[in-house]
Amino acid sequence: MIFKDAITDPQLQELAKRINADTGFDILQYKERPLKRRLAVRLRACQLSTYQEYAQRLVQDKSEYPKLLDALTINVTNFYRNPETFKAVSSLVLPSLLAQPEQSRPLTIWSAGCSSGEEPYSLAILWREFAGRIGVNRTCRIIATDIDQQSMEKARRGIYDHNSMNEMPPELIKKYFDVSSKYFILTEDIKRMVEYQRFDLLEPSPFSGLDLIFCRNVLIYFSRQAQEYIFDSFKKSLRPGGFLVLGKVETLFGQAKEYFTTFELKERIYKLNG
Ligand SMILES: C[S@@+](CC[C@H](N)C(=O)[O-])C[C@H]1O[C@@H](n2cnc3c(N)ncnc32)[C@H](O)[C@@H]1O
Repeated sequence: MIFKDAITDPQLQELAKRINADTGFDILQYKERPLKRRLAVRLRACQLSTYQEYAQRLVQDKSEYPKLLDALTINVTNFYRNPETFKAVSSLVLPSLLAQPEQSRPLTIWSAGCSSGEEPYSLAILWREFAGRIGVNRTCRIIATDIDQQSMEKARRGIYDHNSMNEMPPELIKKYFDVSSKYFILTEDIKRMVEYQRFDLLEPSPFSGLDLIFCRNVLIYFSRQAQEYIFDSFKKSLRPGGFLVLGKVETLFGQAKEYFTTFELKERIYKLNG
């Protein structure tokens, strides 16, 4: 998926072609300034000064790729990131979903850009807490995707350190983690609720009929056109009346505003019309 108005610097385009051919990662769809800043980090680390030299380095030294991808994909995340959003989902979104028909099939949630798993596992815990409180016996299936395999390997292990726990309510830590070592080890029961798949958001979505999509702190890195493509892909992946949750600094724009209605502005929660 190449959008025409993306980056125009010819040297950067050449470098991008190489990266795309070798990894399938299309860096031209990201915002130019932050992208250049992150590439500059790798150029400095390799003591190189041009994109051309860096493209050559990538040919000669394949061990550079994981370092590059690590610099390009910002993986910062934590459990219950922006707890107010989780509160709003629990008090407004989940009850609304349960009030809709088709209660016999599993409630399906997609965490798109899941990084090392803190977000999809938080959703699993949120569902457990919610379902337990209101006494509902419905299965919840959580699909978690990211372009970065390394992050998802960490997610599958389900072992975290205290940095991931800053915003997590202490009573939930006690309930869902083994804290007997210096690590926080997630219970198998919660791990089993989440299915991981590598997926590039710039590819056509393989999902449909979803109830809820969480895509937070991912779209900020993409060009405007790439964001519009992704909004359209989310529309096709949700069922009518399904919800989309974006990050606190992200917002819907363009055509997407015609098919989504703002449900909770502060928490960036949108509902698909129909
Ligand atoms: C800052 S993390 C967000 C994690 C989590 N959603 C949160 O808000 O805490 C951004 C994630 O987006 C992923 N990402 C970047 N480009 C992507 C793409 N084209 N397709 C899928 N995931 C992508 C990165 O690998 C990274 O894990």
